Amino acid sequence: MGLTDAMKEKILRLLKSEDQYLSGEEISNLLGVSRTAVWKHINTLKTEGYVIESQTKLGYRLLGAPDRLYPEEIKDGLNTEYIGRNIDYHEAVDSTNQTAKEMAEREFAEGTVVVAEMQTAGKGRLGRKWNSPFGTGIWMSLIVRPPIAPPDAPKITLLTAVAVAEGIVHETGMKPGIKWPNDVLVNGKKVCGILTEMKADMDRIHYVVVGMGINVNDQNFPEEIRETATSLQIETGSRMNRARIAASILNDWEKNYQNFLSQGFAPVKDGWKNYAVNLGKEVSVTTFKETISGRAMDIDEDGMLLVKDATGKIHRIVAGDVSL
Ligand code: BTN
Repeated sequence: MGLTDAMKEKILRLLKSEDQYLSGEEISNLLGVSRTAVWKHINTLKTEGYVIESQTKLGYRLLGAPDRLYPEEIKDGLNTEYIGRNIDYHEAVDSTNQTAKEMAEREFAEGTVVVAEMQTAGKGRLGRKWNSPFGTGIWMSLIVRPPIAPPDAPKITLLTAVAVAEGIVHETGMKPGIKWPNDVLVNGKKVCGILTEMKADMDRIHYVVVGMGINVNDQNFPEEIRETATSLQIETGSRMNRARIAASILNDWEKNYQNFLSQGFAPVKDGWKNYAVNLGKEVSVTTFKETISGRAMDIDEDGMLLVKDATGKIHRIVAGDVSL
């Protein structure tokens, strides 16, 4: 972010802190910039969609913020120490996971978030595509460098599902469910998918990129997913503030991550089980090599799903798709 952007952010913060008019002169004195610079930044903010009233004698007053995932909007709701303190914003990108991986290669700090209004090649699990239209959802990826062994990385995905579920509870009051391993559902339909990618050696993780796709204000979906997908707006009946929800999820993410690093997987597992929709139910799991039917008993200490088939044999599922 350049110097000018930092000043624009300061002006915005000042306008947000004040319900009354602020004159160009007051802003210029408070922030130590010229009145012309103030005027230019105000114009930029207006082109970004901020509704700013200007009155000749009185000055400027902020009347509304745009429905965008601008870093300043997300940061307004953040109470984290390092997650989301650096946000890379895009109107359009192929995949936020892809961008985040490129940034992680360039040593961007832990906690950096890449966010986009739309993705042209959004990626889902198991090589699928992820529907990511402009301005409806939260398409974001987080860069972390957890000091854990590579085989433990899937635990971060379960942790993320818990954080998203908690964020949804905090922002909507609805109780979501988690379908193993990490689909977040509301009323039985998917509102969020998570795709975790990492770069690691046999014994060390270089970075993990956690991608989250949350359907927030979608009102309809492509034919292929119409039966299985939903959005927070569809389920609550009201339009939601995406930046606030993104902040809330990042707050919950940091809290869960800190607990995981200090106490291990147990608190994540408890959190996950609190939202689990599969456990104790008959399921059919499609893995790379077979389809297993049986009762979903539990997840184990590594987050793998334990399914008991009709013969009593317990299958430990590492990756696959569960149908209820
Ligand atoms: C799934 O298949 O359920 C996982 C979907 C993950 C989608 C998110 S959107 C942000 C990030 N960027 C991507 O390309 N994918 C993830």
